[in-house]
Amino acid sequence: MANLIKNISSLVTINSNGKPFKTGTEMQEIGEIQHGAIVFDENILFVGKTDDALRFIYQNNVNIKETIDASEKTVLPGFVDSHTHFVFAGNRSNEFARRLRGATYQQIASEGGGILTTMKATRNASLDELVENGLRLANSALHYGTTTVEIKSGYGLETQAEIRQLEAIAVLKELLPQNVVATFLGAHDFPPEYAHTRDAYVDLICNEMLPLVAERRLAEFCDAFVDEGYYTVDQGRKIFLRAKELGLKIKAHADELANVSAAELAAEVGAISADHLLFVSDAGIEALKQAGTVACLLPGTAYFTRLPYAPARKLIESGAIVALATDCNPGSCYTENMQMVLSLAVINMKMTAEEALTAATLNAAAALNLSHKVGSLEIGKQADFLVADISSYTDLFYHFAINHISSVYIKGKKVV
Ligand code: NIG
Ligand code: FE
Repeated sequence: MANLIKNISSLVTINSNGKPFKTGTEMQEIGEIQHGAIVFDENILFVGKTDDALRFIYQNNVNIKETIDASEKTVLPGFVDSHTHFVFAGNRSNEFARRLRGATYQQIASEGGGILTTMKATRNASLDELVENGLRLANSALHYGTTTVEIKSGYGLETQAEIRQLEAIAVLKELLPQNVVATFLGAHDFPPEYAHTRDAYVDLICNEMLPLVAERRLAEFCDAFVDEGYYTVDQGRKIFLRAKELGLKIKAHADELANVSAAELAAEVGAISADHLLFVSDAGIEALKQAGTVACLLPGTAYFTRLPYAPARKLIESGAIVALATDCNPGSCYTENMQMVLSLAVINMKMTAEEALTAATLNAAAALNLSHKVGSLEIGKQADFLVADISSYTDLFYHFAINHISSVYIKGKKVV
């Protein structure tokens, strides 16, 4: 039994002919089909023109259970949000208000606020509370079109609390319709207990936390915040090499607050992605390109902290693999809306609409090593797609700051 969605005014496939990502001018090629159709069960069986879909159904004797008419609508791959911090407790709106009065993110952090404010609340939260908070954000993200989501720990900063956050993510994997990927981020900040013995905390991560996370298979990725005032390149390297030894894949928060050559480190250790990159150098860009490490850009963070945007044009023109994600977190970027991220990408990072769509779907899937399954609408991939109440994908960008998504399908099932 299969389903058919037909007469789609603007069907954006991001067709890549099986390639796991697009770079350079390929990012412009979004494989738009007018009067398009998809035949799908859990996976995509056919994608193309409506006439050809009807012929496919007839010739292959496909039994169609439901037919959806999508005239005047746009259909596109579900967004892949490859960088979020959905699981935490507490609220930092007072710190945000202070930033609006002139305090900087680092100033607040140096007074024991920032990540440590969320750490205190998260340490005190039960598993149920963490799950509930994560569910709320993930559900909201779903309505804005996020069908695959990565979620990080990083607000426990002690073994038990980090594990509890990862356990909450494991529960979310069961409860949410989305595809969920877990990342261990014990190296998000240094807890107050280790304020003066930072290397000892790095040892705790390497000798206690990482082995536990790997043994219990609580995360697929290990991440670290390699930046000015946070983890040094040497500390980051130590954590990443230990994580790799234990079978985890690598992501990095890289060069967000200053250029510390974190992008080069990510490339050196074969990270799947290096994220943020507001201050990445030319050498860092070249290293990412050579290593095939995805440059994951988070324009919501630059917007929310009033920092300069990452050099998206330079990255694309250099041939690096560019992705987009929200970075949803309670401090530096509190939004779970990928449509907002797309808007910021085209207006403030000067990406084209086509580049932004590619970056938020196929290339974002590559940032999670998942582009063989999701990120484009191609035969054999999961039927994860969005129906938007617009007759062309360009309206997604033109009419901004509203939610265009009217329904969401994941693995062929209507979930919104
Ligand atoms: O991705 N850069 C480090 N971590 C987060 C901020 C976390 C927070 O402020 O709570 C980020 O921007
Ligand atoms: Fe982040």
